[in-house]
Amino acid sequence: MSSFWSVWITVLSLVVIAGCFLLLRVCSKNTTGVKEGESMGHSFDGIEELNNPLPKWWSYMFYITIVFGLIYLALFPGLGNYKGLLGWTSSNQSIGTEQGIKADSAAAIELAAKEGRYVQYDQEVKHADEKYGPIFAAYLATPLEELVKNQEALKVGGRLFLQNCAQCHGSDARGSKGFPNLTDGDWLYGGELATIKTTIMSGRHGMMPPKGGLPIDDSEIAGLAEYVVKLSGREHDETLAAQGQGSFMKGCFACHGMDAKGNKFMGAPNLTDDVWLYGGSRGMIEETIKHGRAGVMPAWKDVLGEEKVHVITAYVYSLSNK
Ligand code: HEC
Ligand code: HEC
Repeated sequence: MSSFWSVWITVLSLVVIAGCFLLLRVCSKNTTGVKEGESMGHSFDGIEELNNPLPKWWSYMFYITIVFGLIYLALFPGLGNYKGLLGWTSSNQSIGTEQGIKADSAAAIELAAKEGRYVQYDQEVKHADEKYGPIFAAYLATPLEELVKNQEALKVGGRLFLQNCAQCHGSDARGSKGFPNLTDGDWLYGGELATIKTTIMSGRHGMMPPKGGLPIDDSEIAGLAEYVVKLSGREHDETLAAQGQGSFMKGCFACHGMDAKGNKFMGAPNLTDDVWLYGGSRGMIEETIKHGRAGVMPAWKDVLGEEKVHVITAYVYSLSNK
């Protein structure tokens, strides 16, 4: 906040409080010239206005509120740039990186503790770690093969999935264009427990260069797309597909395999199963071939830590292995 606004807010807040105090003082004084409890000389339909003072309990409550407000403003940040006597802040996570890297977050917490600042978020994290830490530690000590049978763990995994993964894979984990469906048993990188865990821990980077990085002319793309359509077992133009097969042999097989069933080490999709990451229409396939694709799955090791990834792995596995 610039110092002008800081001063503006501080002065405004204090003037309003002082104003309330003065108003209360003025209203508490009898300035009417009429004795307390006597008539003001007004009468409405037989109801007479008496000169009664403000009720004591009401005035005292008002004073208490003012005192409370002043103490609060002294202890906590509120008056412009003033930080408050307690050193309280809601969060200090902006000191770390925006991805919420655990190590940075821990460093920020340590720094705040050393400087004697009271950070509400840190206290909540500490509380959560104390409460849930042992539960996650126990999950981590359980082999994944057993964890997938633990309904309680799967529920926890489901909640973690909603918080961290749903924005890309969807809340039902069915994915969308460019984001794989995690429920269909069809895997780019493999669906074994250990492989899923590696994917989540370290992330993945699918890399299909434009035209596969091969000496392919733009005029060959329609044929290639037709061949891919044929591979997935749909109606196709035989001559065009045969041309495409010739182009495919220039090197697409290096990643997608001779049988076009894909390669799990590179995340090259199976082109024969009619399951599409980017869409199976001729137009979409042509676009993929012409411009390439580069899907990125972020790494979660440093964000969530292994304990949570372990539990999420069990949940993801359970989606396609009922
Ligand atoms: C920023 C978007 C994004 C987020 C968030 C995200 N993912 Fe992914 N994920 C992807 C993309 C994109 C791919 C496909 C990578 C590729 O094209 O090679 C992927 C791939 C995967 C795969 C591999 C699927 C396969 O077929 O082998 C798994 C498993 C997975 N994600 C699980 C998760 C989990 C669990 C989380 C939450 C902790 C998560 N993802 C969060 C974008 C995301
Ligand atoms: C260097 C390895 C590599 C080569 C060579 C390569 N691809 Fe790919 N291809 C991939 C990868 C990896 C993906 C997945 C990209 C992603 O996850 O974002 C992919 C995706 C695709 C897709 C999208 C599939 C879907 O489910 O949406 C098509 C179609 C495709 N490739 C066809 C081809 C054709 C045709 C060629 C030859 C011109 C080719 N690829 C050459 C690695 C390769």
